[in-house]
Amino acid sequence: MSTIEQAARRLEELRRAGADVPDKPAAHAAASADAVVRAIDLHRDAVRTAVPSEEPSARRVPSSHPQPRIELDLPRLRELGFITPDAPMNQIADEFRVVKRPIIRNALGKEGIRVKNGNLVMVTSALPGEGKTFTSLNLALSIALEYDNTVLLVDGDVAHPTMPTLLGAPTSPGLLDLLTRDDVDVADALVKTNVEKLSLLPSGSRHRRSTELLASEQMASLLRELATRYSDRIIVFDSPPLLATTEARVLASLMGQIVMVVAADSTSQHAVTQALATIENCEIVLMMLNKSRRTDVGTYYGYYGDDAGR
Ligand SMILES: Nc1ncnc2c1ncn2[C@@H]1O[C@H](COP(=O)(O)OP(=O)(O)O)[C@@H](O)[C@H]1O
Ligand SMILES: [Mg+2]
Repeated sequence: MSTIEQAARRLEELRRAGADVPDKPAAHAAASADAVVRAIDLHRDAVRTAVPSEEPSARRVPSSHPQPRIELDLPRLRELGFITPDAPMNQIADEFRVVKRPIIRNALGKEGIRVKNGNLVMVTSALPGEGKTFTSLNLALSIALEYDNTVLLVDGDVAHPTMPTLLGAPTSPGLLDLLTRDDVDVADALVKTNVEKLSLLPSGSRHRRSTELLASEQMASLLRELATRYSDRIIVFDSPPLLATTEARVLASLMGQIVMVVAADSTSQHAVTQALATIENCEIVLMMLNKSRRTDVGTYYGYYGDDAGR
């Protein structure tokens, strides 16, 4: 079965299972659905292109500071629905096991295919509140807990940083400091955690042009540095929504892989189609249907995208 057929079938299954994927007026509904599926097909084809890995970036300043470390409150995170080391077998962990498989393959060049900057994974959505932070952290935890690879989670929704409240992480130094100051090195801004393979990059000191900076040449340069300096590490960016800021689109164009979260019970097909149009030049887009409404059997993710069935 082709990826497109899988995607269409998965959407239909989710609808039948009760997931609301609200339709726009009937005249637009079919066109919207087609547009979504075409977008996935386009990106899937792009994955097949083998890309040689790049030379490491020139900007390398060895850090003289010991890396700070924080203790994540794992019982609290578990209560909030996050994957934790003591509950590796629950439903959400199972769902992310499926989600992360193609991401890891694309990132690390398994099976001879190395996607350009494939280790830069942006998690975004059309609108706020669809589950970007929920997905980013779970994806990062899932990879860190089960694979022999380190993960760096970046708090990239700089107008709404979540690491301080959700994870108890410091706000700075972080991403915005790396973009605005010459005296801060990447290694100075990374924060280790009690999940051995998981490090964090906080959003950084607030700046009046916070979101604009995400679309700056400094950001492009930082991403090149991250992709090459930490080439064996998967870097997950919790990012702003695509329809709320134009910067998110620019950011997306610099990433190797995009995970687009769709809130099953609230995002209209029209919004999804519009959001996909903003990232149509991105090689790899994986769609995730997030049904965040709680049910008797907990929450669940629907997933369709590149090679969902493998
Ligand atoms: N699948 C899910 N199961 C349980 N809670 C969820 C799920 N998805 C999102 N949430 C919760 O919904 C709220 C909004 O999600 P969040 O990830 O913060 O959205 P965004 O980052 O896109 O603005 C948060 O409280 C989050 O924990
Ligand atoms: Mg968020």
